[in-house]
Formats: sequence, C-alpha cells, structure tokens
Amino acid sequence: CSSSELTGILASKLNDSSAAGYQPLFKSFATDAIHVGSEPEQWNSRAVVPPISLSTTFKQHGPGKHAGFDYSRCGNPTRSCLERAVAALDGAQYCLALSSGMAATLTITHLLKAGDGILCMNEVYGGTNEYFSKIAAEFGLDVSFADLTKLELLKAALKPNTKMVWIETPTNPTLKVVDIKGCADIKLNTDLNISLFLSFLEQRPLALGADICMYSATKYMNGHSDVVMGLISLSRDDLNELLKFLQSALGAVPSPFDCYMCHRGLKTLHVRMKQHFKNAMAAAQFLEADLRVDRVIFPGLPSHPQHELTKRQCTGCPGMISFYIKGKLEHASTFLRSLKLFTLADSLGGVESLAEHPVSMTHVSVPENEKKELGISDTLIRLSVGLEDEENIIADLDQALCAAVSISEHISFLHSLT
Ligand SMILES: *Cc1c(COP(=O)(O)O)cnc(C)c1O
Ligand SMILES: *[C@@H]1O[C@H](CO)[C@@H](O)[C@H](O)[C@H]1NC(C)=O
Repeated sequence: CSSSELTGILASKLNDSSAAGYQPLFKSFATDAIHVGSEPEQWNSRAVVPPISLSTTFKQHGPGKHAGFDYSRCGNPTRSCLERAVAALDGAQYCLALSSGMAATLTITHLLKAGDGILCMNEVYGGTNEYFSKIAAEFGLDVSFADLTKLELLKAALKPNTKMVWIETPTNPTLKVVDIKGCADIKLNTDLNISLFLSFLEQRPLALGADICMYSATKYMNGHSDVVMGLISLSRDDLNELLKFLQSALGAVPSPFDCYMCHRGLKTLHVRMKQHFKNAMAAAQFLEADLRVDRVIFPGLPSHPQHELTKRQCTGCPGMISFYIKGKLEHASTFLRSLKLFTLADSLGGVESLAEHPVSMTHVSVPENEKKELGISDTLIRLSVGLEDEENIIADLDQALCAAVSISEHISFLHSLT
C-alpha cells in the first residue's frame, strides 16, 4: 500500500456520504473552495484575502490596451476571483456571476430569440414560472411545461423549435429529483442544445451532460442570508462567449462587495453542506416517525420516490424538507406561528433554520390548478434546516407540532376516518 493509496482509503472511510451510498465527495472540493481565486500572488500586496475592488474603471497602458479590466460592468477583479472559484468547484471551464438568480435566468433566456421554444419542468421556482409564462412568453418565446421527472414526458413534449430544456433538481417545494443524465442524453435537434440545471453544488450537472448550470447563490453558496446573487457555470466555449457578451450587455452584474461576501461564504460550503444534510436527516426522521405528520418529503429518506436516483447523482442532500401536517390550514398556520427557533420567512439555504407556507408565501403566484396538481396544499410546510444544534431543532419542531395538533384532536381525527 503506497502512502497515496493509504490516504485514499482513509479519505473514503471518513467520507460518510459515500459510505451511505451517495456519490463520493468531489476531489479537492474543499481545497479549491479555499484556494482557487484567493491566490496571494495575484496582488502586489500579497493579500491572503482578495481585496474588494470598488473602482468602476481601470487605467489603460495605451488607447484600447488594458491590463485585463477596462470597465467594472464588463469585468471586475473581485468578481473574477469568485468566478474562478465557482468554476473550479463545478469542474467547469467558466463561471459568470450575476446580480441575482433571476438575473441569471434572464441572461440565459436571452440566448434565445422570438419563436424559440423552452421546455420547462412543471415545478420550478415561483419567480421562474412567472418570468417564463408572464414575461418571456410576451416576448415571443414558446414556453411549455411538463413533468420532467418522467423522461418519456420530456421526449413527448419536445417540439421542433425547442432550444432549451430547463430543469431544477431537487424541485421546490415538493423536492422531486430529476434524472440529470437521463435528460441530458435526450438530444435536442437544434443548433443550440441547451439543457440547464439549477443545483445545490452537491451534484455536478455539467459532468452529467448539462450544457449550462445555474445557481441562486443567495441560498447555500453564499449561505448566510445576506447576499442576493446568481451564478452560471459551463464549459462550452460557444455558449460562454454569448453569455459573457450578455452579462456585460444586459448589465445585471453583482457588486464587488457581494462578490467578496459570496466568495467568503464558499470557503465553508463543504462543511456547511455536510451539517445541513446531517441536521435535515435528523429532522426528517423525527417528522416521519411523528403521528401528527401526514407525509415527509426529503430525498435523503428511503421513502422518497427518487432516493436511489439522489444517491446516484448527488454527494448528499441539502437541508430542505417539506411535509404535510395532519389537519387543515389552521393546523399549518398554528404550527408556523408557534415555531421559536425556526424563523417564519421566505428563502432557504442560510445558517439559520427557516420555515414557510408555500401556498401562501413562496408559491402564491402559481395558478390554483397547478398548485393542486403539484401537491402545494394548505397543509404543506417547507423547512430549510439550518446549522443550529440538532436537539434544539427537533425540540422546536416538536413543541410547534404540539401547539398545532393536540393528541386528543389527533385521536378524534382518526375516529372521523373510521
Ligand atoms: C431562489 C431561487 C431563484 C431566484 O434566485 P434569486 O437569487 O432570489 O434571484 C431561482 N430559482 C430557484 C430554484 C431558487 O431557489
Ligand atoms: C445539437 O444536437 C444536434 C442533434 O443531436 C446535432 O446535430 C448538433 O450538432 C448539436 N449542436 C450543437 C451546437 O451541439
């Protein structure tokens, strides 16, 4: 056994997600997160932490001869550090940072022109649904939706003009998992062939055949609920050239301060994701065993319909859990109002635990019939499990369930069923 083999064995023994049947952690992920884009040698000062470059413009050696940067919308040193780090973490050639996840969506959609088709997963982020159906459609894009967890439905929904397939996995809020490789293997018959995935950095859609991978860095990547940002990673030269042009031409770029913050957040992403997964697993197991809960949806539970697929394409699960509380709207509402540690708020992926009611908060804009079809009902609750102590997280869920569904009510509820 050579020492490098030995290190490999030790590393795999310590890698608990792969031990549980998930994909092994990406090689050098933690090292790259901490070092790529943060090389002290790139600065005359040899600063260990990349400085925040606020300058909007850069002095040129001669007319049209600049030293890498000319105007801050087109390129900025702090943004460039972040973009290099994200590209490395995603195993991508390129990364582009945008001012929000929605700005990334907008920028990507500008690759298409009037008459082109987008086939979109039927359950996507509420804002994305709204953008595609209310704005992009008005500009002549042919937008259609289908349940892309079923590859035969994807094939059936493709049209001659389909240029882009838009997938999010896991979906929000019912956490369906989409087979990335399965989708990417279905070739579009166009000159563009874009498939796109929104992801949590516990999977590498590009390695599974996606052309573009997009993130709302507002969530886990920044991870501290204090920056709104979007990121796009990709390896195709042709698409990178077009997107790079769109990034500066449309101008939805993030501030240098936000780039600095997000880059800082990335350096602890690997430790945070491990703990989010662990805490969420404990909370999901607690909820699944509880009589006051109807059904728990968490891709890390064997009861999840795509649990095996999750293990095949991810290194772990993010801290997102959805569940149906027993009873009616009033039970969900009392539960949410009774939480003390979990904060009742939109968004997800920060260090603090959040809870929300999709039907009246994040997904309020989704049409009634679609809500019904997707299972976004009055009793659905979405949790973003944070990094607090596991026992405090579970105790808070327990006391809020107590407040919402008393045992006697539960027994009379059971009686009413028989
Ligand atoms: C949050 C989110 C967005 C929007 O990102 P912003 O950074 O808020 O603009 C888009 N899609 C998904 C799946 C999201 O979770
Ligand atoms: C897109 O896919 C079609 C069909 O598979 C192929 O002929 C074409 O070359 C692809 N285009 C690009 C840009 O990859």
